[in-house]
Amino acid sequence: MKKFTSVDDIQDLDELISLATSIKAAPFADSEKGKNKTLGLLFFNPSLRTRLSTQKAALNLGMNAIVMNLNTEGWSLEFEDGAVMDGSSAEHVKEAAQVVSQYCDIIAIRSFPTLTDKEKDEEEYVINAFLKYANVPVISLEGSTEHPLQAVADALTVQEYKTIARPKVVLTWAPHPKALPHAVPNSFVKVMKKADVDFVITHPEGYNLNPEFTKGVTITHNQDEAFANADFIYAKNWSSYDDYGQILSKDPSWTVTPEKMTLTNNAKFMHCLPVRRNMIVSDAVLDSDASIVIPQANNRTYAAQAILTKILENEK
Ligand code: CP
Repeated sequence: MKKFTSVDDIQDLDELISLATSIKAAPFADSEKGKNKTLGLLFFNPSLRTRLSTQKAALNLGMNAIVMNLNTEGWSLEFEDGAVMDGSSAEHVKEAAQVVSQYCDIIAIRSFPTLTDKEKDEEEYVINAFLKYANVPVISLEGSTEHPLQAVADALTVQEYKTIARPKVVLTWAPHPKALPHAVPNSFVKVMKKADVDFVITHPEGYNLNPEFTKGVTITHNQDEAFANADFIYAKNWSSYDDYGQILSKDPSWTVTPEKMTLTNNAKFMHCLPVRRNMIVSDAVLDSDASIVIPQANNRTYAAQAILTKILENEK
């Protein structure tokens, strides 16, 4: 693997999940693989899980991990080629990416969308600029349109908790007070399309995801219908894609409650976290045995470790 910025970079999902599973069983088995290698984690946005689990994954492989919060600690970067830099940006990504490439063997980047400029967001201009100018492999820690490391952890979690060969997995929109990106649901859709599951998306009218991602997936605006016989409920909020970045609904009837969960086949409840309690999901569900959000978050380490392993092996 030369880079990991999209679920599309996964050539064989079963093989990757199998690798993550074996890493989970023996996390320190390859503790020399990353010796004298450095992972640089650059954050333009906040994080708890992605930051710590990716650092932990690097440490398990014997790598050094260095972290920088670029938005608060770094020079403001310019991304436009040919720009006359007479504004607030002090450094062009062209130099920054090449400089960081001298310090790090792999660069990982988190950069959220603007949610105001759809075209710019869909260009993935931050991650693509690093792909263009860095001299080392680049990993997405969540970009404007995808969160592929989360998707690998999600697929691993479904694999671990499924009780039938081909489970029904439902991605449901749920209400949230703020406008949220599409990256998590987009990558979850992509990875579930690669998995052997009966996959359904449910959301209110006006909340279509980018049809390029959802093409071929069953979509319903009836959440109860979607929940029927589901084995996994994956809740997530996202803002409108068509009315880009807008909040069209905070309808509490879409909150995942125990009553909704009774419609399912004793489904497991998943969410990428952080989660707004009693907005996305009620306390009674999140605190129940049905919730697997904590082991799901634990799988972020093994997902990241599997990706780092594949990139380190490619470098040899
Ligand atoms: N799920 C996830 O990416 O969590 P963080 O934003 O805390 O990294």
